[in-house]
Amino acid sequence: MISPSSIDQVFETARVEEVIGDFVQLKKAGSNFKGLSPFSDERSPSFMVSPVKQIWKDFSTGKGGTAVSFLMEHEHFTYPEAIRYLAKKYNIELEETEQSDEQKEKANERESLYLVSEFANTYFQKVLHKTDQGRSIGLSYFKERGFTEETIKKFDLGYSLNEWQAFTDEALKQGYNIDYLAKTGLTIVKEDKRFDRFKGRVMFPIKSMSGRVLGYGGRILIADKKAAKYVNSPESDIYHKSKVLYGIYHAKQSIAKEDNCYLVEGYTDVIQFHQTGIHNVVSSSGTALTSEQIRLINRLTKNITVLFDGDAAGMRASLRGIDLILEQGMNVKVCTFPEGEDPDSFAKQNTLEELALYLNENAKDFIQFKASILFEDSKNDPIKKAETVRDIVNSIAKIPDRIKKEIYIQECARIMDLSEEVLFSTLAQMDKKEAQDDHKKAPPEQQQAFNVIKNYQEPVQKVDVQYLLERKIIEILLLYGNKTEDFEDLVLKENEKGELILEPIIQQAKVFEKIFLDLQEDEMQFTNAHFKTLYYTIIDRLNQDKNFELKTFVNSVDQDMANEITTILMDDERYALDDWNRMNIFPKQKMNSVGQLVSETILSLRCFLIDLKVKEFQQETLLNKIDSNRNILEEVKDYSSLKMLLSRKLNRVL
Ligand code: CTP
Ligand code: MN
Repeated sequence: MISPSSIDQVFETARVEEVIGDFVQLKKAGSNFKGLSPFSDERSPSFMVSPVKQIWKDFSTGKGGTAVSFLMEHEHFTYPEAIRYLAKKYNIELEETEQSDEQKEKANERESLYLVSEFANTYFQKVLHKTDQGRSIGLSYFKERGFTEETIKKFDLGYSLNEWQAFTDEALKQGYNIDYLAKTGLTIVKEDKRFDRFKGRVMFPIKSMSGRVLGYGGRILIADKKAAKYVNSPESDIYHKSKVLYGIYHAKQSIAKEDNCYLVEGYTDVIQFHQTGIHNVVSSSGTALTSEQIRLINRLTKNITVLFDGDAAGMRASLRGIDLILEQGMNVKVCTFPEGEDPDSFAKQNTLEELALYLNENAKDFIQFKASILFEDSKNDPIKKAETVRDIVNSIAKIPDRIKKEIYIQECARIMDLSEEVLFSTLAQMDKKEAQDDHKKAPPEQQQAFNVIKNYQEPVQKVDVQYLLERKIIEILLLYGNKTEDFEDLVLKENEKGELILEPIIQQAKVFEKIFLDLQEDEMQFTNAHFKTLYYTIIDRLNQDKNFELKTFVNSVDQDMANEITTILMDDERYALDDWNRMNIFPKQKMNSVGQLVSETILSLRCFLIDLKVKEFQQETLLNKIDSNRNILEEVKDYSSLKMLLSRKLNRVL
């Protein structure tokens, strides 16, 4: 665990414009920076960074937040990963909170395994590029496969010398502990002998989502029937085969941006696709896909396209594994390659345009695809056909969304030339069985089809005065809530001549207290639900935290609220001055002081609410034709004079 004071230090040091500047080309625009959104393809920049407020806003997707949340969005870091990244960038030494000895040892050990793996990564690359054997055997192999120098560097490809313990000796010489070399599997220890696991192989480092080396795949270069073509790192504390996807580090941004992930079988498929220009691709490295791997993708997109080699047997065997993807509610497409081709060979022979076109034209919906090939297989065999029906309905049953399920049933009935009823009743039987099974395990999952998704960002389109004023109050609280200001208030007094006059008195107060008390006094409530929640959250925080800081606050709320806040803070341009003028609220652009801004905003809101009240009464009087109703008239009069008073105050302030 990173200590809170270290986290504070990171927050204080990190500058949002510097952090984002490493990923997005930013241009100065007034007091802000502007750039092209890294989250969508756009031509005119709608991505804004405010050095003053230390926040960013992407108007094309509605996302926004702090430097930390940018890293979490863009690099798909977890919170601690983002903190560590920033600490590294700004040379801040992170202090870890107290851990038990056991925890410490475990963390240290994992850290040591990472270090050994990182060392090996540098070493294997050096051997590939800088030794005769590396160049003549390893490098020439990669070149033969068509990999460019740039590609080889990008994927940190390497070579392990064809000697029994060249790597191990070097690692020991550099001071790495044999225990860690053994635990990462880089060295095989047998009694007092040591061997390099990857002797004489080209090396493919396998990286985590955040880019740390977890393990390796090594490919043999000579045809040897006894030796496996690929050797992989064994399971260790840092490498869990079922939880990693080869290429995810290089693919994550593109997966999110393209909103689709291509899944291939091997290392070389991933690399060749990249080189051709398709970056949203990962590989399960020859093993069947696991649900943990699917979850990794699910964090980035709901859409997955599985690419199959052009051999029919392999493809039929893999169909079943795909049900796992459906279970997680993802949309699955499949695409096959021509006989004898795999994604690697196909990408190598084609240009980016050709490859992209092929993928677009040949990717088919998985269920339809499965139904059509199974149908082909069993067309003339009734027994097989019954089996096929169960098989396909079984896949459909995995889909959590009920509406989707029904659509698929209709589709498949058509493809397989069966009545929908047959399929629906098979589905019902399976659902029933599933429900029974679930009953034994865990409560059944909520039906998702008709769930209303809570959406914080639901656009509030009606731009009315009240909306703008409420929003302004939130903005003031966020920017100046913690400031102590002078507030000029006007009190009604009688002068020597017995006339009523307004006399200014100056009082000091914290901005948020002033706002809170004023609103409370008038029993004013926010009408916009989002603002109301935000208002109470902010007031609450300001109350508790004397050192309230905007960026710390933005970072501590959930993503939806952070998006809402950044919209409010960065959206001023959308409601430019002429809007205010048009609505006759703020004739002046520049406020002389925060105090003045606060008073003016609250008074404007009061005036507005009084107007509203008066209109309501007038309406009522008209409708009921009870102009004789003294009470209502009295009330209107009261409100009107209150309004007059307020207007006078407001004019005085303006
Ligand atoms: N694989 C493995 N062990 C093997 C064979 C394969 O781990 N003995 C994994 C590797 O991740 C490999 C993937 O399965 O990338 C696909 O296997 P294959 O199609 O045989 O390899 P290719 O990637 O096509 O490798 P190459 O083109 O280098 O022959
Ligand atoms: Mn291949």
